[in-house]
Amino acid sequence: MRLLGIIGGSGLAQYPGLEITEQKQVETPYGEPSAAIKMGTLNGKKVAFLPRHGDRHSIPPHRINYRANIHALKVIGVTDILAVAAVGGITDKYAPGVLSVPDQIIDYTYGREMTLFDDPAEPLVHVDFSWPFDSALRNGLKEKLAESELKWNDGGCYAATQGPRLETAAEITRLERDGCDIVGMTGMPEAVLARELALPYAMLSLVVNPAAGKSSHEITMAEIEAVIHDGMANVCRVLADFAGSYTA
Ligand code: HPA
Repeated sequence: MRLLGIIGGSGLAQYPGLEITEQKQVETPYGEPSAAIKMGTLNGKKVAFLPRHGDRHSIPPHRINYRANIHALKVIGVTDILAVAAVGGITDKYAPGVLSVPDQIIDYTYGREMTLFDDPAEPLVHVDFSWPFDSALRNGLKEKLAESELKWNDGGCYAATQGPRLETAAEITRLERDGCDIVGMTGMPEAVLARELALPYAMLSLVVNPAAGKSSHEITMAEIEAVIHDGMANVCRVLADFAGSYTA
């Protein structure tokens, strides 16, 4: 039995169109997840939804209990995770409004609890993370995007930065030199924790602003919110299509 888990980010704290049937408050050895997990029906399929910043979008990226979130999803029976991310666009193809299914990550975060394998009493574990995103989930998302009229990119490298401040222009220049296409604050350690629990994980990202120094103006919340409004509606449409053909 498979169960799709959806992690919502900025602009997706509540899931429009999700018919919630039950809320699961899960305790984990790592503490409490960001919110109760919402069990519901999306396009006829049962899904589990967790807003990573909490129900009121109040938990900043560095304070999210990523370990509890991923552990809780696993415990309630989630078998696959789709993570939604609002990101800044670095390279040209990643303009505001464009969706992407990234294929790589570089982690620039620090000071976060980033492993479930940190007990010296247990044997040491190194997970393979060469390809951080699951190819079957990525292919499923790409299929639905290809059937849509939306602008989207196949692949791209996601830079995970510490936040909650946005980057400097020089930092973005450095990320671009490193090969990054998009930048967000929550992809790590979320992705690696899913890998540690053997949970296939893929990301659907929405560019909500040109990254720092990539436009002639300062980045404003108003600008971001304007893109989020229509962009998250597109994200939800793709996720609903995906859920519809997901084999439970
Ligand atoms: N940088 C980091 N995270 C983000 C951005 C950005 O420009 N936009 C949305 N999330």
